[in-house]
Amino acid sequence: MIKLKNVTVDFDGFKAVDDVNLSVTEGDIYGIVGFSGAGKSTLVRTINLLQKPTAGQVLVEGENLLDLSAKELRARRKNIGMIFQHFNLLNNITVLDNVIFPIRKEKISKEEKINKAKKLLELVGIGDKLDNYPRELSGGQQQRCAIARALASDPEILLCDEATSALDPKTTKQILKLLKELNTSLGLTIVIITHQMEVVKDLCNKCAVMQAGKIVESGSTLSIFSNPKDKLTREFVETSTNVSETIEEVKSNIGILKENELLVKLNYLGESTTEPLINDIYEKFGIKTNILAGNIEFITGVPVGNLIVTLAGDDQSLSKLGDYLQERDVNAEILGGKDGIF
Ligand SMILES: Nc1ncnc2c1ncn2[C@@H]1O[C@H](COP(=O)(O)OP(=O)(O)O)[C@@H](O)[C@H]1O
Ligand SMILES: [Mg+2]
Repeated sequence: MIKLKNVTVDFDGFKAVDDVNLSVTEGDIYGIVGFSGAGKSTLVRTINLLQKPTAGQVLVEGENLLDLSAKELRARRKNIGMIFQHFNLLNNITVLDNVIFPIRKEKISKEEKINKAKKLLELVGIGDKLDNYPRELSGGQQQRCAIARALASDPEILLCDEATSALDPKTTKQILKLLKELNTSLGLTIVIITHQMEVVKDLCNKCAVMQAGKIVESGSTLSIFSNPKDKLTREFVETSTNVSETIEEVKSNIGILKENELLVKLNYLGESTTEPLINDIYEKFGIKTNILAGNIEFITGVPVGNLIVTLAGDDQSLSKLGDYLQERDVNAEILGGKDGIF
């Protein structure tokens, strides 16, 4: 549905976006994560040509937007709604008028416009705020209004630039839930930029990690969370799952490992549940496992497990275990003890 091909945005020799390829399929909720300054906003603004790329192609439903006339582009842009961190509502008109604003020039009757706006406000859960002004709404309600406004021209694509970054955690969850519902009920394709990996975890089926204008890793959210490859991706995943904090905590409390002990992080997808794994490790290799910390998270409905354990056994058994874990698709990372034994 959206294909960015070798897109570069060059600001006087500085590449805010550097040769990016990105493919979003209809119905996706596609997350783009990265730290501030990574180029996320610039990238997403190329999708509706709010930001014209210096090089590359922007294909939306097979059509290169860069080939269109100004008039054609205006028409195509109606297919792409956008919401922002600070909502960008017009403060001197009511909530209802904010939603009517993008369709004010459409050739339908005033009554139809009002009815449409009312329906959308109902859909996003603030049907009772029609006559209020934006400043009279909470942050979450203002973002709901902005979502209704973005949907006024019946877009198939919604771009969200840090749409929940100004909201508290509870309101964030509610807005993410609303976006998920709109994705399902309207078949809306969503591209969401965020610096919060939790947003990706809760909402997105696919994601990409961006750094210094480049996409360093992309794939299904499940594969990114269960097996992050790039160092930055791992950092993002670990902060969102609290695994890094847990590891630090465990390390500072465990004291000195015994001669034949390893401190290991095991990471696996739901099918290999904990109990048989630990049991097998003992039965097959005579290795004793002590679970120090563990959690299971659901990513797009699939459980992903993280365990921090000590493994005690002789070198030969431990090295055999390394192969076995690999066969079972369990990622093992040695955090302490003899490195390189797996
Ligand atoms: N219009 C512009 N002119 C010059 N530099 C810009 C412009 N817009 C963004 N930048 C720079 O591009 C980089 C990426 O910005 P941005 O896309 O806003 O990052 P992010 O959204 O990931 O925080 C930043 O270093 C920023 O200063
Ligand atoms: Mg930004």
